Amino acid sequence: MAYVAKPAQAKAKELDPHRIREDFPILQREIHGKPLAYLDNAATTQRPKVVIETLTRFYERHNANVHRAVHTLSHEASVAYENAHKKVAKFINARSWREIVFTRNATEALNLVAYAWGFWNLSEGDEVVLTIMEHHSNLVPWLMLRERRGIVLQFVDVDDRGRLRLDQLREAITPKTKLVGAIHASNVLGTVNPVQEIVEEAHRVGALTVIDAAQSAPHIPIDVQELDCDFLAASGHKMLGPTGTGFLYAKRELLEQMDPFLHGGDMIATVTLEGVTWNELPWKYEAGTPSIADGIALGAAVEYLLDLGMEAVYAHERKLLEYALERLLSLEGLVVYGPHDPEDRLGVISFNVEGVHPHDLAGILDEEGIAVRSGHHCAQPLMARLGMDNTARASFYLYNTEDEIDRLLEGIQKAQRLFR
Ligand SMILES: Cc1ncc(COP(=O)(O)O)c(C=O)c1O
Repeated sequence: MAYVAKPAQAKAKELDPHRIREDFPILQREIHGKPLAYLDNAATTQRPKVVIETLTRFYERHNANVHRAVHTLSHEASVAYENAHKKVAKFINARSWREIVFTRNATEALNLVAYAWGFWNLSEGDEVVLTIMEHHSNLVPWLMLRERRGIVLQFVDVDDRGRLRLDQLREAITPKTKLVGAIHASNVLGTVNPVQEIVEEAHRVGALTVIDAAQSAPHIPIDVQELDCDFLAASGHKMLGPTGTGFLYAKRELLEQMDPFLHGGDMIATVTLEGVTWNELPWKYEAGTPSIADGIALGAAVEYLLDLGMEAVYAHERKLLEYALERLLSLEGLVVYGPHDPEDRLGVISFNVEGVHPHDLAGILDEEGIAVRSGHHCAQPLMARLGMDNTARASFYLYNTEDEIDRLLEGIQKAQRLFR
């Protein structure tokens, strides 16, 4: 079992998606004359008014560069930007906000691990264990390091339902293992991996761990102290924040030991022609002018989620998932990939309709105002392993409703009729 509902969750307050939808101006839009049903949340989510207003307010009232001036605007921008780090730290229960590095997206956060830690700490023959489920952003950087540093990559397989082979994981982790990387929730199958167990296995041999939480942090409570992971990456734009936001959590001692990946302004304490000393955390890893407004608005997004309560967000999406699985599995001529037991997964559902190419299906659904994704979802090795080429993918969030799932089903049935 991957994500176990704790007793507190049973009491999680119930979300009212109809009320929540009022906070999201874009959800009032019509597409081809039909109300928008946005089911592409695994790619990026929509933003509530509070996030949009935080961006506007910053530019109208506080805009200035951070850390560089004594004037009032710069001070206000610096405090707000620092506070956004504190909100993200609270969101994932980090020990300190100094363990939170803002990045442009999850990809940049994962590259930071590969280049600031991997490049300097791994050498020929060292092993990195990854799962076959990784998104390209936690795969390609390690493939590049294999080219450049001669490291050895071990891949842990999934079973035919897309659940991680823990038996293989245990075998793959040996004293040669220096890092274990795992996706927390699959962006293709929705499968939730037991990351706490993975971290324990890695630590048993002294290996570090990097968790790709891009698809989990927006949907379930994350506690990095409980997980005890060494690095954890997430996308701000998949959790109501602006595009151009993401973050890396890393244990403080690692951030202190490592050298930064990007060099230049803001990340230094002193520079002489003889050498450099680094700025304090986390600025050491945020070279140049950061995305100040976006970072502050990510703080507003996180606050919005915390106000609703992540237990409640999960409980709402769990209901949608159960409803959608039951309805999709009852349709003839439709294959649902990934675990069929909602206990093992989140609300990202990949499926194919017999005789209808996923791009055609996505086009027909768009005519009905329904946004779903079609393609390989940046996880080609997993697709190849499960014999999948392209799939359609519907992914839910806190503002989705059962009515939208009914419309998805009707749209699929329309496609089936058209292609019969
Ligand atoms: C599991 C997973 N990891 C990483 C990423 C990359 O995120 P970003 O686009 O923010 O870099 C994605 C994006 O879809 C994802 O689903």
